[in-house]
Order: sequence, then C-alpha cells, then structure tokens
Amino acid sequence: AGTASAAAHAFPFTPIGIATDFEVHVPEGYSWKPLVRWGDPLFSEAKGAYSAENGVSVEMSDKVFGENTDGMELFNIDGREILAINSEYVNPKINLPAASDGVPQSADEVTLLKNLQGVTVLEVADQGNGYEVVVDSPYNRRITHETQMTMDGPAGMSPLGTMNNCGSGTTLWGTYLTCEENFNGYFGATGATEASLEAGYTRYGIGGEGRYAYEKFDPRYDISAEPNEPHRHGWVTEIDPSDPTSAPVKHTALGRFKHENAEMVQAADGRIVVYMGDDERGEFIYKYVSDASWSEGQRTNGLLSNGTLYVAKFYENMTGEWLALTPQTTGMSIEDILIFSRMAGSRVWATTMDRPEWIACNPLKAEGYCALTNNRNRGVKPNAGGDDTSVNGPNPRETNHYGQIVRWTPAGGDHGATDFQWDLYVMAGNPEVYTNEYGGSANINAGNMFNSPDGMAFDSKGMLWIQTDGDDDNAEYFAGMGNNQMLVGNAETGEIVRFMTAPNGSEVTGLTWSSDRKVAFVGVQHPGGSWPDGAGKPRSAVISVWRDDGQTVG
Ligand code: FEO
Ligand code: CA
Ligand code: CA
Ligand code: CA
Repeated sequence: AGTASAAAHAFPFTPIGIATDFEVHVPEGYSWKPLVRWGDPLFSEAKGAYSAENGVSVEMSDKVFGENTDGMELFNIDGREILAINSEYVNPKINLPAASDGVPQSADEVTLLKNLQGVTVLEVADQGNGYEVVVDSPYNRRITHETQMTMDGPAGMSPLGTMNNCGSGTTLWGTYLTCEENFNGYFGATGATEASLEAGYTRYGIGGEGRYAYEKFDPRYDISAEPNEPHRHGWVTEIDPSDPTSAPVKHTALGRFKHENAEMVQAADGRIVVYMGDDERGEFIYKYVSDASWSEGQRTNGLLSNGTLYVAKFYENMTGEWLALTPQTTGMSIEDILIFSRMAGSRVWATTMDRPEWIACNPLKAEGYCALTNNRNRGVKPNAGGDDTSVNGPNPRETNHYGQIVRWTPAGGDHGATDFQWDLYVMAGNPEVYTNEYGGSANINAGNMFNSPDGMAFDSKGMLWIQTDGDDDNAEYFAGMGNNQMLVGNAETGEIVRFMTAPNGSEVTGLTWSSDRKVAFVGVQHPGGSWPDGAGKPRSAVISVWRDDGQTVG
C-alpha cells in the first residue's frame, strides 16, 4: 500500500475516496456536467418529449437519446464532433405507465421500449458553455431494434435491428462498431420450438419468456414463429457515423456470441486484428484477423468480411495460443462456426473465462487487456456447453466475486502472431476482509479497492482507464469499495488510483474523448435516486469531465 500511494504522484490528479451517495465525484481541480440524458431531444420536434412524471412518449421515442447508455466513440468528421453511443437496454418500470408493472401491455408499449434502445449518433459542440448536443444536426440519428441492416461474410442474412448494444469500438477507417450482447433475452416462445435448433438455443440462453414480452405483440420475436430470428443477432455491427442514411452492416466473419466490445488494432503486416470478449460465465475470448491488409486512406474493402476467427487458449506456464476456428479444426461448416462460435470454441478446448468484458490495447506497445468481471460459477458448475470451469491460470479463484484483468503480449510484439505470453495486471479483491487470494493482488490496497472491472480504454498517454459494474452495497465482501467507479491504471508500474465515483445504483460504462482531449465523455448507466436531475426519475446519462485549468484529460 505504501508504494502505491507514494508513486501515485505520477498521476495528474489527487485520487479520491469512495462514495456511497447519489452524486458523481471527480478529483479536485476537475468538474463535470451532464452532456445528454435519456429522453433529451435530438431534433426540435422532440423538445419537451421527456417529462419527469411520464418519461418519453411513444411518438417521440425515436427522436430522443435512448436509455441506459453504454459504449461510445467520438468521430471528428470534417471538424465536427460526432458521438456514436449505445443504449444497451431499458428499465421497463421507468419507461412504462405504472399500471404496466414493467411488462408491456400493447404493441405501442413494445415500440416505445424498442425505440429507446440501440444506437444514437449525435453531434456535440462547445459554444462557450461546455459541450452540448447540436439539436437538428444532419448527423443526428437513431438506430433501433427495427432499423434495416445489411449483413456480410459467410453467414450473411437480411436482418432488421441491432439490440443489447453493449461495448463499442472504432475501425481504422473511421466507422463505429457496436456489439450485440444479451440478445437472447429479447426472444420468447408462444408455442412449440424446433428440436433441431435446441442445442444452439441452449448454448446461447434462448427460450422461455422474453424479458420484455415482445413475442406477445410481434411475431418476429417469437421463436415458435420465427425460429431463426435469434441467429440474426449477436453480431458486431458497423455504422458509418458520417452518413445518416447508411445501412448498418452486421459482420458475420467476427462470430456470434454475447459480444462485449471490439478492439481493433493492426498486425505487423497490415492485417486487421479485432479482439472480442464473450460476456458469459465460462465463455471465451476471440480474435479476428483479416485476410487482406489495410493502409492509411483506405475506406472499407471487405476487411471485416474475409478473415479467420481465433479463440484464446491460456496455459498454466504463462504462455497462450490463438486457436483458429476452421472446418478442419472444429469439424463444423464455416457458417456454423460463425453462427455458433461458442460451440466451435468448445470443440478446440478454448479456455473458459470469468465473463470477458471489455478489451483494450495499449497504443504505446503491443499488449491487450481484458476485464474478467466476476464469475460466481467458477469452480462451481460448467458453462452452458458443459465445459469444465475449474480454476485455471488467468481465472484462479473459485466463486470469483471480484474479477481480474488479464494481459497478453503477442509474440514478437505483433498482434498478428498466434502465440502470446500472459499475466494478471490486477486481481481485484478486499485486503480489509481477506488475507488470502480474495484480498487481491499486490497493487490493490485500502485506498483503491473496487470490484467487477468492466469498461476499459487506453488514453493517448498509455494510461488504462478502468470502469466498474459491480456490487455497490459497500458491505461484507464489498465493504470499503463504495459505489461503482472509474480508476486509472499505469500499465508499466501496475499502480491503480480512483478518479471518479458514480451515483449509487449505477455502473460506469463508456469512455471517449473530445478531439482535443480536453474533455472526457463518461457514461453512467442505470443510476439510482433521482440522478442527475435531483427530482423525478433517475436518468442514465453521458457526462462531460474536464480539468478546470484547461489541460487535457488523458
Ligand atoms: Fe453489457 Fe457485459 O456488459
Ligand atoms: Ca459491460
Ligand atoms: Ca458488467
Ligand atoms: Ca450494463
């Protein structure tokens, strides 16, 4: 603990303590304010669409910022600042009339919920009062569960909608990647389902009742009527933020699973590499490598359509290997490998992980980091494919309440290599409660405790920003950890310090920066209380955070 606090002076802020209140806290010398909240208008006609009593009307629900903000990225397009932001899911009890008790009672109520999820593209500008949404910007756009998409790669289909948009990424050619995570929850069955599809449904958690009762009002979500509809979801989807009329593209070559985010880097020979986590207890980490290479100035040219999907195998001796998922290695057709990537991963004995959330790559050296958020099933029960989930190298604790961050260094400093070395950057834990491995790794102390690392992004200086989505009751295992938070980690020394705390009930997720790096945009999802308005419903929001002296933030 002594070492960590002494060396913390290397960080350009004084680390803050925990909080348990319904506010946001940032270090002294920094300030914040909301940028855009659930229900805020993107277009003039939607001004006043949100009311503290009733939320958003169905008529205006696709003209406002969606609920439960998650991954986001900023694009500088012709000198204008354009944000693409995911809205992962909705809280039906907050959105629907009280009489509904959180379950839609009509097709209109289903439409309302569909429209408040998906992706928002919006322009922001600082006209002297900090960043604000540019209402009526030609770039402003909503993409929902019903937007027409296209699909490419070996398993292409013609789909509608993108759903449960969790983490994000950017391409080297300036487009947005949105990642479909818990898509399974949107589907239900009103009648009998096809036995031949059962194994795939089971591995992905599809079946039973949908979480929003969509299937009762829209047959597209009823797997007894549309058995293949769930197979059109669970993909990395590319959106061109510069063209509001463009159809989003689902890239089947990147595999189908509960995608967290998509971190794109380049191999030494110019090929595209995309690292991806599958956020489920005991599922896998993947990477996609394009066949062709990319060079500066190229737009898209099929780089996300033609390539090889790999899955990670971690060995106990701190080495690892990316195993190619091909018809030869799996005995599956290429279409099945992509649609049922989890089953392909099991065929090659990929390493079962503690819920792989965001992956971030260090811009200053070839290394990747994945937040393994927690896993109560580790050492307790197998994954949905029956794979063994006993403790293993990067997942060393049974009944893992705290999570850890695994780091890999590809052979030869080349993200295109299939061999790597790995270590644990941090094991979260509580040294106040435990003296064993549940107390965390050496870089955890009473001053920086957290649980359930989730969002991650590197800044331009090579600092790793870590966001949490964990238990914030501040009791028992979690005593002394307070609300969910954002920390900054030094990749070289392993030091980690706390930068921000979020309102009780919320998680912190999504981080990007203004082009000049003077403002960080941070997402606050599912807040409690009446944050940030101080009265009425709680509203998920993206906030701006800046340094009062005008210096850069990362
Ligand atoms: Fe949507 Fe795994 O977080
Ligand atoms: Ca997450
Ligand atoms: Ca999470
Ligand atoms: Ca979430």
